[in-house]
Amino acid sequence: MSETVAATATQPLLSTKGLGVRYGGVTANADIDIAVSGGEIVGLIGPNGAGKTTFVDAVTGFVKAEGEVVLDGHRVEKTSPHRRRNAGMARTWQAGELFADLTVAQNLAVAVQPIGLRALLLDVFTGSRPPAGVVEEALDLVGLGPVADRRPGELTLGQQKLVGVARALVGGTRMVLLDEPAAGLDTHESREFGQELRRIAATGVGILLIDHDMSLVLDVCDRLYVLDFGRVIASGSPHEIQEDPAVVAAYLGSAEVQGEEIVPVDIVDAPQSDGAPEVDGATEIDGAPEKEDS
Ligand SMILES: Nc1ncnc2c1ncn2[C@@H]1O[C@H](COP(=O)(O)OP(=O)(O)O)[C@@H](O)[C@H]1O
Ligand SMILES: [Mg+2]
Repeated sequence: MSETVAATATQPLLSTKGLGVRYGGVTANADIDIAVSGGEIVGLIGPNGAGKTTFVDAVTGFVKAEGEVVLDGHRVEKTSPHRRRNAGMARTWQAGELFADLTVAQNLAVAVQPIGLRALLLDVFTGSRPPAGVVEEALDLVGLGPVADRRPGELTLGQQKLVGVARALVGGTRMVLLDEPAAGLDTHESREFGQELRRIAATGVGILLIDHDMSLVLDVCDRLYVLDFGRVIASGSPHEIQEDPAVVAAYLGSAEVQGEEIVPVDIVDAPQSDGAPEVDGATEIDGAPEKEDS
């Protein structure tokens, strides 16, 4: 239908509207509107505990969320994770480790199987690689075709990280959410990894990239969103983000931003304040204490 065609041409591949996640009393995500188009690399950054992983969990269906998740024009917030995966959206896990005893190709093959230990073991032990075509396709996409039959331990760390990405891309994924996929890479490896992401995006895949390596993120992303305490506090081009006072404040922990107090993340749970001499048994709070007239 012409309506659908028009919609896919103008709509982003993935978008969220008012996305929120609560863990008990903790608001991990609040009112998040984010959009990623095909061919685009969009960064999601923010201090530890800002809610980045929660956002990926919510979008891919691994955690209950309020709000809308739209994939390629279809509302998917009520569908299961594996349906979202089948609809073309996949993720990597923050500590996404590879199976050391499987080859690179097998590491991808097990990812395509419907989640089921029996199916997985059957395929591994019968040595079958059912979706050979799709596995090769994903490996070629990240430039790892030549090492398909090696084991992860024989690859460089950068290549291992790309296997993790390929595992998410397998089976015609069009939208991929990468949760710190370059963790542990040095500057040079990280740069190469970024170039590989650009090649992947150039094929039309939409990429949401979470990473702490600012030079990677600023270098490789078309646009960025900054999360702090579960909310988007800034968005824009890498250049705009670097200049944004709210972002600088969130990272450096300055006290006052746009009239709202931002409590530095690393101080929130600190048992004692640094610097000032401790008073035995007493908790000293900086600044003027509220006056109590009694
Ligand atoms: N499964 C969970 N149960 C309870 N709280 C959680 C859970 N996962 C994350 N949180 C909390 O939600 C907030 C966001 O965490 P997370 O999404 O992991 O942040 P990030 O990935 O940006 O470091 C943190 O306060 C964290 O402690
Ligand atoms: Mg995280």
